Parts: sequence; structure tokens; C-alpha cells
Amino acid sequence: MANNYHESNTHLRAADFINSIRAMLSKPFNAKVAMILGSGLGSVTEKAEILAEIAYKDIPGFPETGVTGHSGSLFLTLINGHPLIILNGRIHFYEQGDAGAMAPVIATLKVIGVETLIITNAAGSLLNAAPGSVMMIKDYINFTGQSPLFGVNSNNRFVSMSKAYDSQYRYHLRQIAEKNDIHLAQGVYAWMAGPQFETPAEIRAIRMMGADAVGMSTVPETILARYHNMKVAALSIITNYGAGMEDVRLSHEQTLEYAPKAAAKVQVLISGFLEYLYSE
Ligand code: HPA
Repeated sequence: MANNYHESNTHLRAADFINSIRAMLSKPFNAKVAMILGSGLGSVTEKAEILAEIAYKDIPGFPETGVTGHSGSLFLTLINGHPLIILNGRIHFYEQGDAGAMAPVIATLKVIGVETLIITNAAGSLLNAAPGSVMMIKDYINFTGQSPLFGVNSNNRFVSMSKAYDSQYRYHLRQIAEKNDIHLAQGVYAWMAGPQFETPAEIRAIRMMGADAVGMSTVPETILARYHNMKVAALSIITNYGAGMEDVRLSHEQTLEYAPKAAAKVQVLISGFLEYLYSE
């Protein structure tokens, strides 16, 4: 579906609005890192010192989300003194059939100075990672046929995806995991449109095609971030095995039950990662 996000300047108004709130903070806040929180990971904000919370509905052009477990707020935070913008809630392709729904958000982050985007999500495991574990995404397969760049009208739309997830970042995240005794799997994420879960036949097919985890988000934001020349790191919280791999009925409730179990590990990884990013 084509959209006109890329032609509008709403993200400049959104950036002005966020900057006006930033200017009211008692100390300078120069975040070069933003993080999108996946389903059930809201507790990651608990370790952060929250300087401001801005509801998406108050930010020009920001989409409102309707998925349980996502509140739809942008937080200006400090973690161990390091500035981090946290986006709690993302709009998914399946909400309105619009892969570009996050385009205004990512464009706004770029204008306010973000250079690194950390993306988290909940995902189903196709093989090695057990529910409750964390998988770092090393590459993706887009099974939807959709792109958030539909409607971009310049040659910039031909974004290289050969290094979607930064290899230096992956190296450092593995080091941080090892240092903290966290088992960090690494694999390929398959983006499925949803909102229905996959069939067992679909799971068998995408396993054979090289995917290690499956979910309904992350790829559009990755493409948008690469379009804006941001570097990307992405972590999947494994909440279940893919359909047909075990004898349980998949549900969003299961996602919300398992995601918090991995939230503590994500917190540790993010703290260490920010240490690295701000010492670069
Ligand atoms: N499939 C798709 N999306 C998901 C899953 C899954 O099994 N688990 C959490 N998000």
C-alpha cells in the first residue's frame, strides 16, 4: 500500500515538539540511541531514570497503537547516566495493513539526532532458542511482500540490506552477553504479516528456508532505519516454539507471559551496550 509519509513534513513538527520538551529538562539530553520495546517488555523501563514521558497521541503524526502490552509512549530516559529514547509501543503492519506506519516515528528520531536504533520484539522459535531466551537477529527474511518504502519517490529508496544489522554491534552484544553469563542465540528472523499465527505447514516451510525465529514486526523499522542511515541492533525475546512444534495453542497471552521472563536479560544487555555506544 502506498503512503505519503515520505512526502510530508510532519516529522519535522514532531521533532520540534519533542525538542521543546527536551529543552525544559533540567540537564542537557543528547540521545544518539533509541530503543523500540516489543510486546511484554515494558518492564525494561523500570531500570531507567525517566526524565519525560510523551504520549504518542500528543506527538504530531505519531501512530496510536492498539495492541495489549504496548502503551504508546516515548520516554526520554537515562540508564546509568546514558541518554536513551525508549519507544514503548509500535504500530504493526497488521493493524492497518500499512507497512509504512512507523515511518513518521523513525524519521522523527533521525531529526532529533538518533544514530543507533535498538529494536526488540517477541518471536516464535523455529529451532534452537527456547521460550524465555533471547536471540540476536543477524539477518531477516521478509515473507510479506511489503515495504515501508513504498511511495518513496527517489533513488534513495534502493537501500542496501546486505548489512541490515551492524556486525560491530553484534560482536559487542555477544561480548556483553558472555561477560554477564547470558546465553544469547543468534539467528535469522522471518517477518510474517499476521495477525493470525502461522500454520504448522508455514512454520516447516520457513524453517527450511533458513529462518530461526518468526514474528510480526521489526523488519519495517529496520528498513526505515537503514533508509535513514542509522545503525541497527535487534533482539528477539523467544516466547514460544513455532506452531506445530509443541502441543500448545499459541496466544498473545503466552507472549505476554514469557516476554517479561527475558526482560531482565534484555536490561543487562542494553546497559552494557549503552556503555559501549557512548564510549565509541
Ligand atoms: N509467530 C509470530 N509472531 C510471534 C510468535 C509466533 O510464533 N510469537 C510471538 N510473536
